[in-house]
Amino acid sequence: MALYTCNELLRPARKQGVGVAAINLANYETAAALFEAAEQTGLPLIVQMYSRMFGNGKAEAIIPMLRKMAEKCSSPIAVHLDHGTSFEQAKAAVEWGCTSVMFDGSNLPMKENIRITKEVVKFARKAGVSTEAEIGHVAMGDEGHLTVPEEALRFVEETGVDALAIAIGTAHGYYKETPKLDVERCKAIADVLPGLPLVLHGGTGTPLADVRKVIRCGIAKINVATEYQDCFLKATRAELEKLDGKFMPVDRFMDPVREKCVEHAARLMRAFALQA
Ligand code: 13P
Repeated sequence: MALYTCNELLRPARKQGVGVAAINLANYETAAALFEAAEQTGLPLIVQMYSRMFGNGKAEAIIPMLRKMAEKCSSPIAVHLDHGTSFEQAKAAVEWGCTSVMFDGSNLPMKENIRITKEVVKFARKAGVSTEAEIGHVAMGDEGHLTVPEEALRFVEETGVDALAIAIGTAHGYYKETPKLDVERCKAIADVLPGLPLVLHGGTGTPLADVRKVIRCGIAKINVATEYQDCFLKATRAELEKLDGKFMPVDRFMDPVREKCVEHAARLMRAFALQA
């Protein structure tokens, strides 16, 4: 199956009131498990990479592998840059083969966020690549601030971005307390942006019932990173304990670890794709 842009996966998802999982990979095993989960579930999937992987040679090496895996996979797949930090980084992601890029200017003044997002949209669109940006700010170890519907509308009108990440009460990483999602705010944003796929960052630890509520209100892409990475770490630790200091070639050692990651990803994909 050919590669897809996020837009091609997310527009129909928003229309149908379902969510597409967007899961962060970090190496071959976490990537391969995602493709196995897509194959098992038959559902579309967005495989995405942390922006730091675009600054150290990893993404450049991994993207061709992801594209090859996507071509062999019978489910629709998009390859995405998560939280791009600059126009130059988004440009590199497009040139290396991502089918979708995010520029995150959510900590910049609105005018500057609009200016850079516009440049990214213009460049990506010419290459047939779709775009995501953020307005409001989903906390990342710093302070978050919620998205204002009127600002979201102005931002989309001025930038032409394809999907919009909004802040409605989630945060990145594990929570100290269960988050409370502002479903009414999500609905208000969706109402001023009919048809535009909205993105929920900070999927880890967000109660599934709440995620499903906001999917009904316009969220089409749900980002999950921390809990998937942690699944890999915990499974690795469990396998190392079983090994008890003995040797095993790493490729074989990783098989059961990858299996745990497949189960985890498939569970998320199915939960988000359920129709209300
Ligand atoms: P979590 O790490 O909280 O799952 O957030 C992922 C995310 O939003 C990536 O952009």
